[in-house]
Amino acid sequence: MIILAIETSCDDTAISIIKTTASALKKKQPVFNDFEILSNYVSSQAKIHSSYGGVFPAIAKREHQKSLTPLLIKSLKTAGLLKKAKKPINAKKLLKVQKILERNQDIFNDIKEFLKEYEIPEINKIAVTYGPGLEPCLYTGINFAKALSFYWDTSLVSVNHLEGHIIANWLAPIEKVEFPAIALVVSGGNTQIISIENIGKYKLIGETRDDAAGECFDKTARILELGYPGGPSIAKEAKKFKKNKFNISLPRPMIHDKNYDFSFSGLKTAVLYDFKKRTNEEKKSKDYIVEMCYQIERSIIDVLVSKTIKATEELKTKTILLGGGVSANRELVKEFKKQSKIRKLKFVSPLPRFSGDNASMIALTALFSSNVKKVSWQKLKPNSNLKING
Ligand code: KG4
Repeated sequence: MIILAIETSCDDTAISIIKTTASALKKKQPVFNDFEILSNYVSSQAKIHSSYGGVFPAIAKREHQKSLTPLLIKSLKTAGLLKKAKKPINAKKLLKVQKILERNQDIFNDIKEFLKEYEIPEINKIAVTYGPGLEPCLYTGINFAKALSFYWDTSLVSVNHLEGHIIANWLAPIEKVEFPAIALVVSGGNTQIISIENIGKYKLIGETRDDAAGECFDKTARILELGYPGGPSIAKEAKKFKKNKFNISLPRPMIHDKNYDFSFSGLKTAVLYDFKKRTNEEKKSKDYIVEMCYQIERSIIDVLVSKTIKATEELKTKTILLGGGVSANRELVKEFKKQSKIRKLKFVSPLPRFSGDNASMIALTALFSSNVKKVSWQKLKPNSNLKING
């Protein structure tokens, strides 16, 4: 079984090809040595969006359109599946492809050349993210997947991006995960605590009421003029922290509330107020930026870890799984490891290269989750507010 996965929910265009065996698919959870990642490419738009301090949907869509076909060619080539066409293009089918891609003219121009030049590859299934995410971006990936599914006559499945971030944990040689588990999915668009009975069986138990944790990193980095994405630059500055000089005091929003919800917009406002009251000299001083970054990171970590541990203890689950771009934060992972060890809980976090958006997590989810069903390309639509319950 060879699966091709496409992910375009936000500002990363990603394609992955994974090969596995029929017997591996019968197992209850993925086993790392049972599958082979033939290719895994991510084309990041972060540089393009950095001047805006956040993701601009129309620009993100344009960039996905530009990147998809070249990335597909690169992926197939790396996977050893790119072969020159022996037969001429099917003109009747191409007309239909044009119709599928009527709102993505740039993709059609590229894919027409691709279909003319290359043979139908040995791909058994196509998986594509259908939500949650930015609607124009989701549509672009979905239309691309539909066109390929139709022209290649290959079955199509749709995957929930959030589930992908959870399954990303199995893209590493980990021990068998014991269920029930709790997952914390933290990215630029989501902060959710999910209770997991088994792969494919989820219940959303808490989420942010306003900004996501990654969004808080991004917005506070913007206040401090550190560029986009904010998480890595705040983490880099925070690492240099040695001692308090400015007595910055930031809140830990909702940390003592009885529910598992979050709120990060007040934290962003607190950063803004502190920044505004500083003299120009202080604002420009390296020590102030370093101390502020340290305090932002600490505050976000304290809330995320405390609420997730609370959920684990109250629901008596055995494992904590992390996922999403913010799980690349080393201090967050360190704190989770420490707190899990004290409580004798198992803790798993994805490899840094699979913490952010990627398509291997979409491929693996398509292969292993009972949630993922075959869809007809005619019916598939994005769901930008897709939830994970199921
Ligand atoms: O999952 P992701 O790649 O994309 C989506 O938002 O779906 O996550 C991106 C987010 C951004 O907000 C970015 O600032 C944050 O992940 N991020 C980090 C780190 N690396 C990326 N946040 C904190 N520390 C990091 N090292």
